Amino acid sequence: MRACVAGWGTAVPEERLTNADLEARVDTSDVWIVERTGIRERRIARPGESTATLAVEAGATAIKHAGLTPDAIDLLIVATATPEQPIPHTGAFVGDGLGLRCGSFDLNAGCAGFAYELVVGTSMLVAGGLQHVLLIGAETLSRITDFTDRNTCVLFGDAAAAMVLSASPDDGPGLLAWDLGCDGSAADLLRVTAGGSRHPASAATVAAGDHYIKMVGQEVFRRAVRAVVESATATLARAGITAADVSWFAPHQANVRIIDAAAGRLGIPRERTLVNIERYGNTSAASIPLVLAEAADDGRLSDGDLILLSGFGAGMTWGSVVLRWGRA
Ligand code: ACO
Repeated sequence: MRACVAGWGTAVPEERLTNADLEARVDTSDVWIVERTGIRERRIARPGESTATLAVEAGATAIKHAGLTPDAIDLLIVATATPEQPIPHTGAFVGDGLGLRCGSFDLNAGCAGFAYELVVGTSMLVAGGLQHVLLIGAETLSRITDFTDRNTCVLFGDAAAAMVLSASPDDGPGLLAWDLGCDGSAADLLRVTAGGSRHPASAATVAAGDHYIKMVGQEVFRRAVRAVVESATATLARAGITAADVSWFAPHQANVRIIDAAAGRLGIPRERTLVNIERYGNTSAASIPLVLAEAADDGRLSDGDLILLSGFGAGMTWGSVVLRWGRA
């Protein structure tokens, strides 16, 4: 048995934050941001919008697109690094918003979150004999971004994207191979230090800005390229294919220079690499399902296509999957 992608949906806030808007806030320029990151604008959640509201919108669209009703969903996984609140988990709010009563949990693997939940959701579907698992990647990174810090505020955006996994036969479409990893010795490179058990939120942590995301950009960049190349290479080998067999490469959208460096080293040309970072920035766990859903909606993906997706992020985590596209 396998698990194929039977439906998908996306949700992005209406509000756009352009590079020109950021020029007015910090010492930066459109030229710098475009040259160094490839980003032109990102979407920002308005008051009243949150990780869960975006996730519900994307999830509802995906369920409908799969031709299902909410009662058919056996399990919900929400990948996010920006949960609705510390307790309960985001899946509780999302499940309620979608009218689900099945099991749900959150999965935090940073920007590798979608690769992780694809592997976990597939494994639970196959091992547990489930029929339909709803995967959502949802983030409101703007809520943990310091908009006075030019090193980070140009990078992040808000979005959600969802995919329904459905049972598929052994030789059908679905996940063919995967690789997941995490080097926790590099945890400090990308972090929000306050609000957990080590540094509970206090007036002092707020005053110090420790509830904001901090990043050692250059080192993250260096490790990201290496992690994507090594993880993707291992996954292709496990699937018994080469880069030449890959129909589409769907990398995490963090920086177009990371995407180009990794794709170049893997030997995958730009024409077969999915990129939408210019419109959304880095939306962490939402970025891979968002770029995939857009490509599926505009007809670039065809049944039988071999898709290599690869993410990396806080942890430092990484994860790659080879997926055969199409419904059972
Ligand atoms: N505008 C203008 N100048 C800037 C800006 C800005 N927005 N940001 C930094 N600079 C300056 C720096 O201060 C530095 O100036 P200095 O030389 O006077 O000190 C100069 O530009 C170069 O800075 P670098 O950090 O070397 O720039 P780099 O080319 O590395 O680009 C960037 C920075 C875009 C952050 C890059 O390192 C990057 O993309 N890193 C990876 C980020 C990432 O992938 N995160 C992924 C995971 S996210 C998650 O899991 C939630």
